[in-house]
This record gives sequence, C-alpha cells and structure tokens, in this order.
Amino acid sequence: MDLYDEAGLYCAAFDWPVDREVDWLLRQVPGARRVLEPFCGNARHARVFVERGLEYWGVERSAAMLKRAADGAHIHLVQADAREFSIPGAKFDLAWCPINSIRHLLTDEDLASHLRTVRSHLSRDGVYVVESDLTRRDGWRTGPMVERGIWTMPQPDGTIIDCRWQPERDDLARRRVFERATIIQRRGTDVLREVSNVYEMRMLTFEDWRGLITRSGFTVSAVFEHRGSVHRPQVEFSVGLENGPDNYYFVLRPMGERVIR
Ligand SMILES: C[S@@+](CC[C@H](N)C(=O)[O-])C[C@H]1O[C@@H](n2cnc3c(N)ncnc32)[C@H](O)[C@@H]1O
Repeated sequence: MDLYDEAGLYCAAFDWPVDREVDWLLRQVPGARRVLEPFCGNARHARVFVERGLEYWGVERSAAMLKRAADGAHIHLVQADAREFSIPGAKFDLAWCPINSIRHLLTDEDLASHLRTVRSHLSRDGVYVVESDLTRRDGWRTGPMVERGIWTMPQPDGTIIDCRWQPERDDLARRRVFERATIIQRRGTDVLREVSNVYEMRMLTFEDWRGLITRSGFTVSAVFEHRGSVHRPQVEFSVGLENGPDNYYFVLRPMGERVIR
C-alpha cells in the first residue's frame, strides 16, 4: 500500500503547525493575494494561507490525498500532474513547494517542464519558493544529511505515530535516491498500522539544480536554511549546501522581472 493512498496515516504524520512557516513565506512576498501549491497533498498549508487573507490553489495527482484535503471558501483544488497543468486566468504572487516534493520528478525534462509551468502561472512580481535538499554527486552518505528524517507525532487519541523518511540506496549515475518512508501507528508497544514504501526520488546536486533553474527561466533571489521549524537564516547559494543538515528554501524569481525589495 502506497503511503499517499494511506492518506489518513500520511496526514497524521505530517501534521505539525505551519503558521510560522506561512508567515515567513508571506514576508518574502509582501502583499501576496494568491498562492499556488503544486504537489499539495492534503493541502495542509491551505487553511493558514486563507486565514491570512489569501486565495489558495493546490495541484495534486493523488485522489486519495485530495479526498483528505482541507476545503472551504478560498481553497481551490485541482487534480493534475505537476509536470504540466493549466489554471486558466489565474496568476499567483507566491508558488510554494514544501518538503522535497519537487524531487518526485525524476528527469531533467520533467523538472524543467514543472518549473516552466509554474513560471507561466506567476504574476509579474511573483516568486516560487521550493523547499528541498541538495546532494553531493558522490551521494548522501557523508555529512549530517544521514541523520535526518526521523520524528514522532503523538495523536489526540493517545496513539503515537513514528515516522522515518530516509535514503536507503542510490543510483549516482542516474541521480536517483531510493528513500524509504515508514510510518507506524502504535498504542504503547502494540503496532496498530504500518506502511512502508520506497520512493524513487531525484537526487539533486547543486549543479543540477542551478542548471535547471536557469534553463527554466528563473533566477535564485535568496536561499534560507530550514533550521528547526522557526529559524531560517539566509545562506549563500553555493555547492556548500550539498549534504547539509537540513532542507533549504530556494526563492526563485522569473528572470528579467522586477525585483521587490
Ligand atoms: C511529500 S507529499 C507533500 C504533500 C504536501 N505538499 C505537504 O506538504 O504535506 C508529495 C505529494 O506530491 C504528490 N505528487 C507526486 N508526484 C506528483 C506529480 N507528478 N504531480 C502531482 N502530484 C504529485 C504526491 O501524491 C504527494 O501527495
């Protein structure tokens, strides 16, 4: 069973508060009115964006995830493939892709197609903020990256959700990393439910990512480190980000557009 089909378990595992993250994102685009989230899953950021006065659009291909998605006024959900989609007439001030989801796209062609599709939906001053990690050409095994991806979510019914999302093996020539996601719901030591999948994900080196960004008509206007859930210091866009201790937020701006200060 795929974790994205076991959407209830996914939603419980990824249910940490996102208010501060949304507020931080909105500081990157003052005055933003519309936000687009490709790979939106259950749209867990949607309500907070709407509470802040924005109109939210999520794009997701999994029906099971969309079934679990937040709904209500100002939330629009589109079942589509993130590689190429069209939301006619809508231009977005902010597009946003959290937690490495972009690495579900495996080839340069798919990634470039996705980036161009998002670019075509941005308003004149719009930005695309992508949260991802970067990996060294010789793999993820060196550096603090190895330790990441383990967390626990206590549930209101007294059960505990143990989560692990970690690289297991890689294919360096094809820039693939096979990541095992295991989510267990338990009461004490009794396991109630368990899902374990291996996802073939894209391994992005700094050079891969920089090339794709440029090729798709974007420029990097800033990078921030996702340190814990609160601290997001600005860092340089450099090869030194590879195999880092956490993810990074890449603020991408369409090339040739006016820069907001
Ligand atoms: C890690 S989840 C992230 C969900 C949500 N953004 C969040 O922060 O919890 C990645 C999502 O991307 C979706 N996905 C993967 N490949 C996709 C594609 N090509 N087009 C649209 N959605 C895709 C999956 O179904 C899954 O819901």
